[in-house]
Amino acid sequence: MSHAPCPPPARPDAIPGPSHARARTPAAQRPRTTRLEMRAVSTAPGRARAFLRAALACWGLTALTDDAEAITSELVTNGITASQQAAPAGITPAPVWLTITDATAELLIDVWDPSPEPPVAGHVPGTWDENGRGLLIVKALSHRWAWYHLNGHAGKVVWAALLTR
Ligand SMILES: Nc1ncnc2c1ncn2[C@@H]1O[C@H](COP(=O)(O)OP(=O)(O)OP(=O)(O)O)[C@@H](O)[C@H]1O
Ligand SMILES: [Mg+2]
Repeated sequence: MSHAPCPPPARPDAIPGPSHARARTPAAQRPRTTRLEMRAVSTAPGRARAFLRAALACWGLTALTDDAEAITSELVTNGITASQQAAPAGITPAPVWLTITDATAELLIDVWDPSPEPPVAGHVPGTWDENGRGLLIVKALSHRWAWYHLNGHAGKVVWAALLTR
């Protein structure tokens, strides 16, 4: 029987972690956090979902898998699009980072992309609109969600939280 290895902890140096989680959780217990760098290509959401599934299985949080996968898919897809749009012509789009954190009472899903442009939520798509549903899905499935610019770093993080208890 094959056994998927548990994901390594996030490297502390690459992209700043979810400071909203770190600030309020005892260091000895949590957060457990892991991070994935993805090229800004169409296969990234699938990679992100697989990475998430493995982390949740390792952390005993499989009950959250369906909702967390849907949220991760939407946030990563948006991040990939934003990175592609932010890249100058002829330049490879910058990678997108997924950080998953098991904090005190929440699973945090953070997606960093290199674009400073904020997500635009709130517009309810018409029946025949093909786009504009991703953030509605994130809002509906999550406990809370938001975005922020990083001091001293390019881009932004769009994040969502699911209650773990
Ligand atoms: N990470 C992001 N960076 C920049 N803009 C974003 C980001 N995420 C969302 N947006 C903006 O917010 C809008 C709404 O996002 P949302 O995910 O709801 O819809 P969509 O991506 O346009 O379509 P769908 O997700 O239904 O395929 C996007 O069209 C885009 O303009
Ligand atoms: Mg979207």
